[in-house]
Amino acid sequence: MKSVRVLSVVSEISPLIKTGGLADVTGALPIALKAEGIEVRTLAPGYPSVMNSLGPVEGVLHLPHFFGGEARLLWATCCELRLFVLDAPHLFARAGNPYLTPDGVDWPDNALRFAALARTAADIGLGVVPSFVPDIVHAHDWHAALALAYLHYSNRRRPATVMTVHNLAYQGVFPREMLAAIGLPPESFAIHGVEYYGKIGFLKAGLYFADRITTVSPTYAREILSDEGGMGLGGLLRERSCDLSGILNGVDTSVWDPATDPHIPGCFYADMPSCFESDVLENRAANKAALQRRLGLKPAPDAFLLGVIGRMSRQKGLDLLLENLETIASEGMQLVVLGSGDRGLQYRFSAAAQANPERLSVSIGHDEGLAHLIQAGVDALVVPSRFEPCGLTQLCALRYGTVPIVSRVGGLEDTVIDAGDLAVTGGKQTGFKFGPATAENLGGVLKRACATFHDVAAWRRIQSNGMSTDVSWRNPARRYANLYRRLVELPQEKVA
Ligand code: GLC
Repeated sequence: MKSVRVLSVVSEISPLIKTGGLADVTGALPIALKAEGIEVRTLAPGYPSVMNSLGPVEGVLHLPHFFGGEARLLWATCCELRLFVLDAPHLFARAGNPYLTPDGVDWPDNALRFAALARTAADIGLGVVPSFVPDIVHAHDWHAALALAYLHYSNRRRPATVMTVHNLAYQGVFPREMLAAIGLPPESFAIHGVEYYGKIGFLKAGLYFADRITTVSPTYAREILSDEGGMGLGGLLRERSCDLSGILNGVDTSVWDPATDPHIPGCFYADMPSCFESDVLENRAANKAALQRRLGLKPAPDAFLLGVIGRMSRQKGLDLLLENLETIASEGMQLVVLGSGDRGLQYRFSAAAQANPERLSVSIGHDEGLAHLIQAGVDALVVPSRFEPCGLTQLCALRYGTVPIVSRVGGLEDTVIDAGDLAVTGGKQTGFKFGPATAENLGGVLKRACATFHDVAAWRRIQSNGMSTDVSWRNPARRYANLYRRLVELPQEKVA
């Protein structure tokens, strides 16, 4: 079979640089695609953490006077990933996170920074590195999206293109005055170009020019066609719906492996037969006890222990959980929260935890080890998102015998099976779902799940079903591979 070469263009890639699930996906997918005969190289910005982890450099291309400074394109291999790195210290060698200053505001030159990334991607696509000329340029999220506009306006024979949306809420919108600075021609500022409500829309441009668009679940692919879910891009996405598909994410099952997880005291096997072996129960009990101890919760083996891991933002619906703290207390449940984000939510959660430390523990920040212990030790993981393109924590939960309680949106809808869906799915309940995402509905599902938790046999069946769900990258990687293959066989037509 002909090997397909793909340039993946990203702002985040695990384990080098991560602020969210995007990095997990862009870090795991190239490795899974190798097994499908797809050769992926990833272009990422030379943030400090990326530069510090690079192994021996295999090649260098100097880029003098590049977006206001001296830059270099490097290629190297790191943690099984074949990388191109845009080493442009004037754009990327900064403290803070990839998008925000240490004070939490957008870097004022974000348009230039991500235009530079995208320009480099387009140049690689057009053959500037002769040893790797990709058949496909695959842009992830707005940070990479402008690559597809540069390729279009190059007016040269170009590789095929794919645009993947991980979250439509982040669109990369900048003033029109930036057009010359980012090196796009005046005619590109049009509805059939990069113009978006009178400004420059990076994601809009990517969605407009991509040969194919994907997002990270089939349900989210439908949701974003509506005016509400489309967040300003619904009209364009409806026009492009024939080229849009949803491919679910997987998780890296070597990192999320309850049999070998170094962060948990009680390891157990996930891929066991349908019966739920006593080892799993015992080891999960040890993990629950360790978690309660570590976080100072009351050591209560029979309390229904809920966990939440994720960004504290409106999207994630954590305010709905705050409104249910009384229900949680009155039903004898406990709750552990790990995440950071919105300062108001952080404050409210922390205050509530101080008032009730035996039942509620809140850890602000990012702690990979604690995230693993939570997955291995809580009884149920709550994901009450208002929208969720895919969601990854519920997939880890399934693998760890933790029962997901999720809202009926996006990838949550596609990856969790509720008892209510039995007619369709044939008795394979793996979790609990509620919708629409309101505090009242969340309260209802928590009570329903708590009642089932106390029915030991029923709960074990749900855990066992979840643990036999395939959450690996195998199937998703095959879908991406098929998409790429179909795409390179197609004759490429210029977009009007
Ligand atoms: C974003 C989305 C999340 C998705 C992840 C990876 O973080 O919010 O739902 O799982 O990207 O695709």
